[in-house]
Amino acid sequence: MAEPIIQCDNLVKIYKTKDIEVLALQGLEITIEEGELMAIIGNSGSGKSTFLNMIGGLDRPSAGRLIVDGKDLFKLTDRQLVEYKRDTVGFVWQNNARNLLPWLTAWQNVQTPMLFGSSAHKKRRAFELLEMVGLEKRANSRLGQLSGGEQQRVAIAIALANNPRLLLADEPTGSVDSTTSDYILDVFRKLNRELGLTIVIVTHDRQLSRKVNRVVSIRDGKTSSERIMKQSYLEQYNHMDSLANTGDGTIEESHDEFAVLDRAGRLQVPREMLDKIGVEGNKVRLEVENGHITLGKP
Ligand SMILES: Nc1ncnc2c1ncn2[C@@H]1O[C@H](COP(=O)(O)OP(=O)(O)O)[C@@H](O)[C@H]1O
Ligand SMILES: [Mg+2]
Repeated sequence: MAEPIIQCDNLVKIYKTKDIEVLALQGLEITIEEGELMAIIGNSGSGKSTFLNMIGGLDRPSAGRLIVDGKDLFKLTDRQLVEYKRDTVGFVWQNNARNLLPWLTAWQNVQTPMLFGSSAHKKRRAFELLEMVGLEKRANSRLGQLSGGEQQRVAIAIALANNPRLLLADEPTGSVDSTTSDYILDVFRKLNRELGLTIVIVTHDRQLSRKVNRVVSIRDGKTSSERIMKQSYLEQYNHMDSLANTGDGTIEESHDEFAVLDRAGRLQVPREMLDKIGVEGNKVRLEVENGHITLGKP
């Protein structure tokens, strides 16, 4: 089997400020295979952006292991990290307006960050990128005249300019309506299918996470559960060209949920489940019964 494109073991990130330390990642374990389109979901403050910034080389983790595309991110020099950011990853944010110039056209905006090549080459390449995100007809519109979703697609085109191995999207649908959000996800699916691009989407949007094959939930900086699309859904999903007209089922209907064991065999048991069986303290009874492990009240 091929090496995973992202292998993250026991990853820890501590932010130190003057008087406090924040443990943003507390031993996160995530493996992502090349060619996946997957989502990471979690409440605000659970460490999603921190994780994405670590993979993107924007910040350095504190401890653990993080291998991306065969590179050990703990061992890269500052200079290698700059190259890594430029060559390996593309980033899409919730709020792209800050990186785009409203008075330039979509086409010009895509050319602006391109560093290399003749101006004819840049023009051609920028147009190709706009085609990839389905925006070729708006190439000559000023950015300020485009809708939020169209601007987001311009941002995706820019993120693809260096042919990254990995596209990282932090709340890419955070400020658009649900129809636009479906469009953006359609673009991701197309890029994933046609270019084989690995795409990691960070979101707190449960509707969006229903529309990818695999969803990893993180809670308090730790992997808590993983949902994998059911085979019956997968078949329909693979034959859909657009998500715009799909029903509004829940993620529980479309995906099977699993708890995740870390390397030491540790498991995070959701508080709701413990409450249901009336566990109050920090002890549970653990028993093997007919091929099952059961957790019970002490
Ligand atoms: N630069 C930083 N300095 C100090 N604390 C930070 C910094 N960035 C994030 N945090 C803290 O780390 C935790 C995780 O934040 P974040 O990764 O942004 O969560 P999410 O993206 O899931 O909302 C939060 O408690 C947040 O306040
Ligand atoms: Mg965030």
